[in-house]
Amino acid sequence: MTSIVVYLLQLMANIIAIVGGTGPEGKGLATRWARAGETVIVGSRDAERAAIVAREIGAATGAGDRVTGMENAAAVAAADVVVLTVPFAGQAAILKALKSAFKPGTIVIDTTVPLAATIGGRPTRVLGVWQGSAAQQTAELVPKGVAVVAALQNLSAESLSEDGPVDCDVIVSSDDERAKQVASELAEKIPGVRAINGGPLESARIVEQITALLIQVNIKYKIHHSGLRITGLPR
Ligand SMILES: NC(=O)c1ccc[n+]([C@@H]2O[C@H](COP(=O)([O-])OP(=O)(O)OC[C@H]3O[C@@H](n4cnc5c(N)ncnc54)[C@H](OP(=O)(O)O)[C@@H]3O)[C@@H](O)[C@H]2O)c1
Repeated sequence: MTSIVVYLLQLMANIIAIVGGTGPEGKGLATRWARAGETVIVGSRDAERAAIVAREIGAATGAGDRVTGMENAAAVAAADVVVLTVPFAGQAAILKALKSAFKPGTIVIDTTVPLAATIGGRPTRVLGVWQGSAAQQTAELVPKGVAVVAALQNLSAESLSEDGPVDCDVIVSSDDERAKQVASELAEKIPGVRAINGGPLESARIVEQITALLIQVNIKYKIHHSGLRITGLPR
């Protein structure tokens, strides 16, 4: 009986693909979710690189075969939830390349921050994005039927790479309530994280800029993982 329940729960669980999952942010998220019992596909432009990182995460977390590596398009095609962790400079091109791989109903969680550093500028500055934010650009580029939610932009890779709880809230913004709920639940699988409803997707413009501020704070205080907490919420 128990095994049937586990099987049914697995059927209901989301498969998470992380596009750009070989970088510090994607690898950190994959590691945290693998530890929390999720099924994760590490995506990369190179299948072999993805497989190496997936094996590392599987071994480090005890998740074993629940973490696999694939070329980005195969990862997206196999997933219910796609997490985008590529630099802003490559965001539009990779989304165009992956467009035909998305299944209808897929949820895309966009973590991208359009830091000026992505084109050789300062990491404490954010580029102007015509659509308003990197996440809104993503919404313009994914196929119809795919929902975009902006989240996790303020969680540093450094804090994700550590074992302990993360001291940061995650502001979740989307025009799609189901996407917001799924992203909030996944964010809260990371110990220490509290998901905050950030309203519509356009709020991503503000949230992305906060990352540049956190980087400034990191530089000033010579630290690597300043975070954000919202106060005054009902308990
Ligand atoms: N690092 C942080 O602390 C942090 C915090 C919050 C949000 N973020 C956001 O998360 C994203 C990833 O950050 P990161 O530091 O992990 O970045 P990264 O190391 O520069 O890139 C992550 C991965 O993206 C892939 N990639 C690189 N250039 C690409 C391109 N032109 N097209 C397609 N894929 C490309 C690479 O994987 P393959 O070569 O294997 O394909 C790389 O390992 C960024 O948008 C960043 O703003 C980062």
